[in-house]
Amino acid sequence: MRLKNSVVVVTGASSGIGKATALAFAKKKARLALGARRLDRLNAVAKICLAQGAPDVSVRRLDVGQSADARAFVAAALRDHDRIDVLVNNAGVGWMGRLHEMPDDKVEELVATNLKGVITTTQAVLPGMLARRSGVIINVSSVVGFRASPYSAVYSATKHAIVGLSHALRGELSGTGVKVCVVYPGVTDTEFFDSTEVPVGPMYSASWVANLIVRTAQFPRRDAMVMPLRFAHLAEPLLGGLMDHGLGEARRLKSPHLSGTGLDK
Ligand SMILES: NC(=O)c1ccc[n+]([C@@H]2O[C@H](COP(=O)([O-])OP(=O)(O)OC[C@H]3O[C@@H](n4cnc5c(N)ncnc54)[C@H](OP(=O)(O)O)[C@@H]3O)[C@@H](O)[C@H]2O)c1
Repeated sequence: MRLKNSVVVVTGASSGIGKATALAFAKKKARLALGARRLDRLNAVAKICLAQGAPDVSVRRLDVGQSADARAFVAAALRDHDRIDVLVNNAGVGWMGRLHEMPDDKVEELVATNLKGVITTTQAVLPGMLARRSGVIINVSSVVGFRASPYSAVYSATKHAIVGLSHALRGELSGTGVKVCVVYPGVTDTEFFDSTEVPVGPMYSASWVANLIVRTAQFPRRDAMVMPLRFAHLAEPLLGGLMDHGLGEARRLKSPHLSGTGLDK
């Protein structure tokens, strides 16, 4: 897909991977529709995107877990930009701890944001994409979407669910010109860990993951995995070999989350 002047919708664009993805598409001169709950942050991201080369950027407050909100967000993007070429379902929240201690409202928030939000925005963009016989839907899962992690049972379940949703939909859309791809980030240096446990180990930068998302939009033939190449063979058999790889290894980043842990060197 040619990205110049294409219309790219990014959910959860106010920080982290979503913000970096918006900036990476802006550098390719894509037109952008950005959504998240923190409008002040979104407006700041939009300003930078315009300065980086995006021809136009629209922003809208979005709680993706609210179906009406998610549909209104997509409808506004279609009104503002006439069409949607790429949807990046990135908005997501985490929670770490023992399953039996997880509060009900957190369970509901994770399922609504990480899974139902993806379903609703995808449903909303599909009629237009199918009518034009073109479009790319990129769903941001996680390495825990194929290798579940203890103390994040519900988060892992939502990220597994996205993989099932995406692969089923890929089959359903076969021959329509609309592509569905999953991106599986490894541990990435964002605000995501502000509300959960600090991960121990190397972290990817958000821009690294964003560049892989952009490459997936350009070449939407396969899923994309962000993990050290030496582990890649573990995931491939599970996913039928339909994988692209983030090149190289995670670097130990200087991160405020890691200061004092000995990993910030
Ligand atoms: N960081 C990692 O190590 C990692 C690894 C694998 C996968 N991921 C996935 O990557 C995605 C982005 O996470 P991140 O690491 O960039 O974390 P982040 O910096 O916390 O960003 C999360 C984004 O999602 C938005 N969001 C959260 N709830 C939302 C809602 N109900 N409606 C709309 N937007 C919502 C947030 O914006 P507002 O708060 O302004 O709404 C924010 O822009 C998530 O799906 C996450 O599961 C992250």
